[in-house]
Formats: sequence, structure tokens, C-alpha cells
Amino acid sequence: MKEHSFTSLHTMGQQQDRRSWAEPYKIKAVEPLHLTTREQRGKALAEAGYNTFLLPSRDVYIDLLTDSGTNAMSDRQWAGLMLGDEAYAGSENFYHLEETVRECYGYEYLVPTHQGRGAENILSSVLIKPGDHVPGNMYFTTTRFHQERNGATFHDVIVDEAHDTSSLFEFKGNVDLDKLQRLIDEVGADKIPYVCVAATVNMAGGQPISMANLRAVRELTARHGIPIYLDATRAMENALFISEREDGYLGKPIAEILKEFCSYTDGATMSGKKDPIVNIGGWLSTNDREVFEEARNLVVVYEGLHTYGGMAGRDMEAMAIGIREALNDDYMKSRVGQVRYLGLLLEQWDIPFVKPVGGHGIFLDARGFYPHLDQEQFPAQMLAAQLYLDSGIRSMERGIVSAGRDTVTGEHHHPKLELVRLTIPRRVYTQAHMDVVAESVKACFDQRASVPGLAMTYEPKYLRFFQARFEPLPT
Ligand code: F0G
Repeated sequence: MKEHSFTSLHTMGQQQDRRSWAEPYKIKAVEPLHLTTREQRGKALAEAGYNTFLLPSRDVYIDLLTDSGTNAMSDRQWAGLMLGDEAYAGSENFYHLEETVRECYGYEYLVPTHQGRGAENILSSVLIKPGDHVPGNMYFTTTRFHQERNGATFHDVIVDEAHDTSSLFEFKGNVDLDKLQRLIDEVGADKIPYVCVAATVNMAGGQPISMANLRAVRELTARHGIPIYLDATRAMENALFISEREDGYLGKPIAEILKEFCSYTDGATMSGKKDPIVNIGGWLSTNDREVFEEARNLVVVYEGLHTYGGMAGRDMEAMAIGIREALNDDYMKSRVGQVRYLGLLLEQWDIPFVKPVGGHGIFLDARGFYPHLDQEQFPAQMLAAQLYLDSGIRSMERGIVSAGRDTVTGEHHHPKLELVRLTIPRRVYTQAHMDVVAESVKACFDQRASVPGLAMTYEPKYLRFFQARFEPLPT
């Protein structure tokens, strides 16, 4: 075991003369957790077809499935719910949200949606024509789905380091400008309706993109008249990394960084369930009046009127408040600090995971756990199952199952990354929970040699990872 003093874990590698950090809030309401026996978990896992998405939450102890909509709201946000103006049209809370997004992100026009994929559906329908090509810094499941459904081909233009779990590059979310230029030369700028830039990059392990890189993407695409749409889901977490790592931005408030970052893009899709610390909601924003008109027209078909878009008035209020709370530097440091704390614990035991640690979770490298398994035996799916079996901790596969099939050949995509994501909800768990998680991961690592692979017994047509079922292969 490597030497890590208690102090170094709590100061997160900062200078030793610094004191420990702590969360800038205290707990006012609590919710009991569910403890189960190994026997109960074995039964629940078999019933769920070895897919953690199919487990009832009553059978889960520490739920690290996702940081999406699983956040704890503040007393201010709960109070905001009482200010919900549930008018069908022109809710007061819509105007509050619109003004907040304009001030914090800088976009002119706002179309509310029920969550991120609602915004992706509308943006893809508005901008994409069949035969188009959409470059992006790695795919995200629902984002690529909507692009492909509208007739586009997705092209991954992220830097190579993003696909390498051992690379310590600090901005693994960056766009590779040569890859982007090559695509433009190959298919022509008129076939690229927009570049889709995500910050941070979820599938790469919550890795950030630098300000300099986004600025360079802006310069390149501007020469060809191609707009940039940001997936702003975790852009505030991205801003923290910039404030810690990028020359010219060190120590700058994340609110300032976010605003400059967004200024290099033409609009954004947003899953409000992440950065804004709420349980539901999303939006599409743009500076382009024509795109806005079209999107505002479509939102009434798929989501709801253009002043609620599938959200209750109270939910829009909670999001507006949450956006400002999340832009607090101390909050954001503690949010990402908790993820790093878990990473440091795992590092002590040489557990393989994606480094540097990203913004919203730890991504275990399932190939490092189970080198004896072929990727088509679903090693990450099995690791998530083993972790649940060991302790009741729920995580998520982010490997070959999530990657799905090629829409043309029907073959599995074979992503380089075969990962299990331990996603940390915002303001929900304590450091003691992180200790328990780390110990369970270690137990799975110690037992890794004898673990068999899985066979897929049921495969849904779309976004299969949500509902697919599996069985262990005979040993
Ligand atoms: N973009 C990114 C980067 C996401 O992480 C998500 C959702 C979406 C878009 C879609 O947003 O769920 O509100 O419709 N990610 C969740 C996750 C599901 O667990 O990572 P949504």
C-alpha cells in the first residue's frame, strides 16, 4: 500500500500548510439508507438481469448510478418550490430562469425542456438534414442518438489522450483540431450543421476541455461558417478545472470563466439535472434568432408550451436558484474535491481507473480488473454487478453495452474505454460513504481473478444499456 497520510487525503494534494477543506453547507434533512444481505443482493441482481438500471432503489445501499437528478436541493431551493407559478402560459418562474441563464451563461434566447434529451431532440431536428455530419468531442448516448435519428453521422474528434486511461493529460476533453479540419475537408462545411462540444466530457471520465482549445475550435469553425453548440450539462465543473489548471485563469471565479467559455459558442443544450443541483429539468439556448423561432415552434409539439417546456413552474424556480448556488467557488471545490477524495483512496491500492480524476465520478477501468475477459463478454457490466453484490453500491457500465451498435453494419461499437462509473450525486453523501465505497471496490479488485463474463440475453433496439439483460457465462 502506498503511503498517504490522513492529512494528504484531506488536503487533496494541496500544500501541506493548508488546512483541510469541508463542504460549505450542513445537513438539515436526512433520508435513511437501505441495508441488504449478500443473499438478498444476489437474488435482486439475478432478477435485474445483471443490469444495475433494473434494480429497484429499495435494494440499493449507496447509489452511484448517476449524478443526474439525484442531487440534494438547498433550503433556498425548497423554499423556491413554494414560489411556483403554475400558470400554463407566462409563468413568473420561466422569466426568472431565462434571466438567470442569460446572466450566468450569456445566451440570449431560452427554450425550456423536460431534461437534456428534450433539448437534444429539438436542436437536432432544427439543425440536421439527412446526410449531414456532426463532429463532437466524444459521443454521449442520447446526444448521438438524436443526431443519428435525424439522419446525421457522428464523428468523434476528441484528442487521442481521451481514449487512454493511463494518460495524465490535463485537458482530455479537448477537440483535436486536425481531426476536425480533416472532416471539414472531407465532407465539406455545408454538410456540418454544427460542432457539438461537451464540457466536461462524460464518456471520457468527466474530463475537461480548456478555454484555449475551445477558442481555437471557434477560430477554425468561424472560417467555415459552422456554429458550435455546447453540451453545457457540466460546464460549471469544467470551469473549475480551468481555474485550477489553465494559464491566465488560475484562481479566477468560475462564474467569469463560464461566461467567457460560453461566449465561444452559439448556444447550448442542457441537462438541468447535473450542474444546477436539481432533480429534473433542462433547456436549449441560442443566440440565433432563427434557430430560436424554430425551436420554440417545436417545443410545443414535444415538451409543452415555450414558457414551461415540460417543467412545473416550481422546478424552473429551483433550477434558477440552483444555477447561482452551483456558481459558488467553495461549493464547486468541495463537489469535485469529494470525487478526488475517493480517487485518492483507490489510488492507495493501485486500483485501475481513469486519471486524472474527472468532475463527476470515478471511472474504473474494467479491462484492468478482468484482463481475462473479452470485451464481448461485457467486463464493465460484470464489474458493476460484482460491486453491487459485494456491498449494495450501485454503479453504471460505460463500455461496449453503452456504446451500442453501428447503425449501418449492425456490429457492436468497440469503444477503447471499458469503464464502470461511480458517479457522485451533489451534496448527498459524506466522506464516510466514500470510504465504504473505496473498500468495496478494493474487495472486488482482490477477487478479480475468478470472475466470469456475461452473455446478453435481451437487447432493446434503442439505448440498450438502460434495459438489456445478462446472465453469467459458465465458468
Ligand atoms: N449530455 C450529457 C453530457 C449527459 O451526461 C446527459 C445525461 C445528457 C446530455 C442527457 O440529459 O439525462 O437530462 O436527458 N446524463 C445522465 C448520466 C443520464 O447518467 O450521465 P438528460
